Amino acid sequence: MPRYAYVNGRYLPHDRASVHIEDRGYQFADGVYEVVPVAAGLPIDESPHLDRLERSLAELGIAMPMSRRALELVSRELLRRNGVMNGLIYIQVTRGVAARNHAFPAQTRPALVMTSKRMDFGEQSKFKNGVAVITVPDLRWARRDIKTVNLLPNCMAKQEAAEAGAYEALQVDGDGNVTEGTSSNAWIVERSGKLVTRHLSSDILHGVTRRTILAIAAEEGVDFEERPFSVDELLAASEAFVTSATSFVTPVVRVDGKTVGDGAPGPLTLRLLAWYRDYIAGLRDRA
Ligand code: PDD
Repeated sequence: MPRYAYVNGRYLPHDRASVHIEDRGYQFADGVYEVVPVAAGLPIDESPHLDRLERSLAELGIAMPMSRRALELVSRELLRRNGVMNGLIYIQVTRGVAARNHAFPAQTRPALVMTSKRMDFGEQSKFKNGVAVITVPDLRWARRDIKTVNLLPNCMAKQEAAEAGAYEALQVDGDGNVTEGTSSNAWIVERSGKLVTRHLSSDILHGVTRRTILAIAAEEGVDFEERPFSVDELLAASEAFVTSATSFVTPVVRVDGKTVGDGAPGPLTLRLLAWYRDYIAGLRDRA
């Protein structure tokens, strides 16, 4: 079955889909994106993902390329055409095409690209065995709450992680506190049992999975606190994990080569993963 991409109004075979060389996303990273997970053929938490897309665009003064309803319809059509039951929808909106000039062009139409692909969120070894992470200085700009396609520091840090045989790099601010992963939010469970993740600000992306996990924690009566935590606290924690659209709740068992807790995925981490899977199954049942 050919894979389709949606590019500015048309469904094109993936290998023939392309954008203009003067797209400002290509020249300036002047655009934003979303990754919406899909389970059993249904987008998960689509509404908060589209809220964040609208907010990212508004912060950069880029118009929505089409209505939310139209974005939802294109998402479903892509899933259908590509036969995706479990995987993700990728949405990218750039300011559009204009002769190269740093200042914004007076008039451009935002450019929209959407793709979808299959992924297996089943019992992968990362959920069963946990993953290793490294820590790196956070080299990014000061508006990490905007989900821009300007991801070079994230890519460099992820590459460093890959070279170290690690799954993710946790970025660390000038005070020695973890901001977040390169494509995930970071969490610890203190020895007291309290769940901790950094508070929302422009220092981190406001993760949709983070939001859902906090809602689940509140509902299940898990004690939690939103505050910065240091690398030393991470190393002393009894559990750690990262969350994202594609990582779900992924246990972290090693940091910079040192064991976290007893070196196995922690019990609260695994409960949160199970509750998150129940939450997804519940969305499916209600659809
Ligand atoms: N990344 N922090 C960063 C820097 C991210 O890029 C992401 C998501 C998250 C988690 O957000 P969410 O729970 O909404 O996926 C946190 C996506 C998955 C990516 O870039 O592929």
